[in-house]
Amino acid sequence: MNERETLKINAKGHLEIGGADTVELAARFGTPLYVFDEQHIRNMMRVYKRTIDSDYGGNGMVLYASKAFSCVAMYKIARSEGLGVDVVSGGELYTALKAGFPAENIFMHGNNKLPGELEYAIDNKIGVIVVDSFREADIIESLACERGLIQDVLIRINPGVEAHTHAFIQTARTDSKFGFSVADGTAESITSHVLRKKHIKLRGYHCHIGSQIFEKQSFVLAANKVMDFMADIKQKTGVEADMLNIGGGFGVWYNDEDPKLKVSDYADYLKTLIAAIKAKSYEHGLKLPYLLLEPGRSIVGEAGITLYTVGAIKDIPGIRKYVAIDGGMFDNPRYALYQSKYTVLLANRASEKCIERVSVSGKCCESGDLIAVDVPLPEAESGDIMAVLTTGAYNYSMASNYNRNFVPPAVLVFEGNADLIIKPQTYEDLIRNDIIPERLK
Ligand SMILES: Cc1ncc(COP(=O)(O)O)c(C=O)c1O
Repeated sequence: MNERETLKINAKGHLEIGGADTVELAARFGTPLYVFDEQHIRNMMRVYKRTIDSDYGGNGMVLYASKAFSCVAMYKIARSEGLGVDVVSGGELYTALKAGFPAENIFMHGNNKLPGELEYAIDNKIGVIVVDSFREADIIESLACERGLIQDVLIRINPGVEAHTHAFIQTARTDSKFGFSVADGTAESITSHVLRKKHIKLRGYHCHIGSQIFEKQSFVLAANKVMDFMADIKQKTGVEADMLNIGGGFGVWYNDEDPKLKVSDYADYLKTLIAAIKAKSYEHGLKLPYLLLEPGRSIVGEAGITLYTVGAIKDIPGIRKYVAIDGGMFDNPRYALYQSKYTVLLANRASEKCIERVSVSGKCCESGDLIAVDVPLPEAESGDIMAVLTTGAYNYSMASNYNRNFVPPAVLVFEGNADLIIKPQTYEDLIRNDIIPERLK
């Protein structure tokens, strides 16, 4: 169980999240159901913000990477905690603006932002666009020129550090659809390109080295490389960038292969990074940049669980036992996409011992529609409530209507009370945009 008290087992032997009994939540809202613990989300937002305040004189901003979980209520929480947000599409931007999020604290990412998305962002005066191609810089310039504006931008660079969970490597060649490589000189070329634009102001640089990372040194190495690059650019052009965005990527606990970090451990990550940035600024004689970070998964990942009802059980003796649930890859495609590992519980019998290993299958017409493979569980029965843990990030946001299944609703739990934040879909929703051409009528 995670140590942050998001989850508990109550006297009835039921799993609780944020003080709410998950069996009662399942009965009240139905399954499948995404459940989020608001207090946990706020605690994670606060730990980053407070560390910037305490260790970096407040000279920075935490941007919630809203691709992890985007809905109006999430932007409201981020706003109330004094965070900015990062968005990666017109849809995320629209949702943030609808939530009343201050445009100046919105940063926009994307390797192929559409001209319409850039126009929408600029018309709404969003704070910063993170430039990811030469073409995009040209489009921003012409849109800003037409409107008589100057748009602040960062440039996304690849510092040559790639991090994956417990390891990181330095690479000279970065094979990525994102960003400009420092090693091959394109980061310098785009800088000169942007500096020639009259309606773009280059504020600094961004990098994002990966996701689900536990290695502190990988962030330090990346920050050092970006700072070295900033110093090089200053020396060559005289222009000193004043913003450094170090991206997201802090890891979370999914299963027993992952460390169980405490909230304060995330402060330690950031403190280590801040110390490195200060040292590099001093080494290069640069002023301390305004620091941005973009945590997504670490803010919302462990705050969320998904509740399902167990349906068919298929035992193939000597081979495998499948426990089927009323959800699947349409609400959580991460096993199908990346073989991501999850921890699974029976929420209504949470204190019972696990006695067998089973595979949790979804209800889609796809053999690969699995949520977890060979996970320990008590002997499940049809009608049990299953909880899959750490589904707060990249589950709802990656959900689909595959097989015309419903994207599940979501509830937000605070001090034991639950409120719907995403309502259930209906059959009518599924055909809302279908059109019958005249000749088929
Ligand atoms: C540019 C950028 N920033 C932030 C994030 C958030 O990363 P995480 O959810 O791992 O913190 C991502 C994730 O892909 C990203 O691409």
